[in-house]
Amino acid sequence: MVRIIDRPRPEDIVVTYAIIGSGAIGTALARQFFRNGVKAGIANSRGPQSLVDLVGELGSTIAAIPVAAALQADIVILAVPFAAIPGIVRATPGWNGRIVIDASNAIDFPAFTPTDLGGRPSSEIVAEAVPGARVVKAFNTLPAALLATDPKQSGGRRVLFLSGNHAEANAQAASLIEALGFAPVDLGKLSEGGRLQQFGGALPVLDLIRMG
Ligand SMILES: NC(=O)c1ccc[n+]([C@@H]2O[C@H](COP(=O)([O-])OP(=O)(O)OC[C@H]3O[C@@H](n4cnc5c(N)ncnc54)[C@H](OP(=O)(O)O)[C@@H]3O)[C@@H](O)[C@H]2O)c1
Repeated sequence: MVRIIDRPRPEDIVVTYAIIGSGAIGTALARQFFRNGVKAGIANSRGPQSLVDLVGELGSTIAAIPVAAALQADIVILAVPFAAIPGIVRATPGWNGRIVIDASNAIDFPAFTPTDLGGRPSSEIVAEAVPGARVVKAFNTLPAALLATDPKQSGGRRVLFLSGNHAEANAQAASLIEALGFAPVDLGKLSEGGRLQQFGGALPVLDLIRMG
């Protein structure tokens, strides 16, 4: 059954997990949610009707929803360009400790170099845009095509790094990562782990398998 939720009252739509962005990373994540039977909503700039084919392929586990509804999820995953984030989250009435997972990379195109953020971790800038939310950086270090594949590899599980300033939020993100079949590795705070994870840090495109 295809789930397209495009009602005029997005506040009526309740999802635990929402992915904002249906490009390479958003779609890779939606596939992992579907594969593991974890329900989620997915949103993009063009609206739910543009996601008919994707949710049709994935079935009822994944619902196409408006961005306004996605912003009310318990855990909101931002799979959008870094520069678009402030504009996307501006409409959120309040975060009240909800979790935002930042999968973005701050990259200047076409040079493909790290954006100059004055030495600040990119997810700290995302955190400023979502006051009251608990931000976790995750899902940003692997190429989308790899993130979409089965994380069970060579008798182990593919590692996904995460970092954030709130230990309990990190633990919830780690649980989600486990539920999607990956092996989470918590790197601590954004000022430390976030720097390692972000574009220009030591960890992007490092593909590790945890054995056992
Ligand atoms: N591609 C990779 O391998 C990779 C790896 C690691 C991290 N990342 C990071 O992940 C993020 C997403 O990358 P991507 O490759 O998936 O990009 P992408 O394929 O270009 O997709 C971007 C998505 O963001 C949505 N979007 C943009 N502005 C929006 C807005 N104002 N409101 C709602 N949705 C909006 C787009 O919506 P529409 O579909 O409606 O245009 C699209 O679905 C980026 O920050 C990137 O640096 C990418």
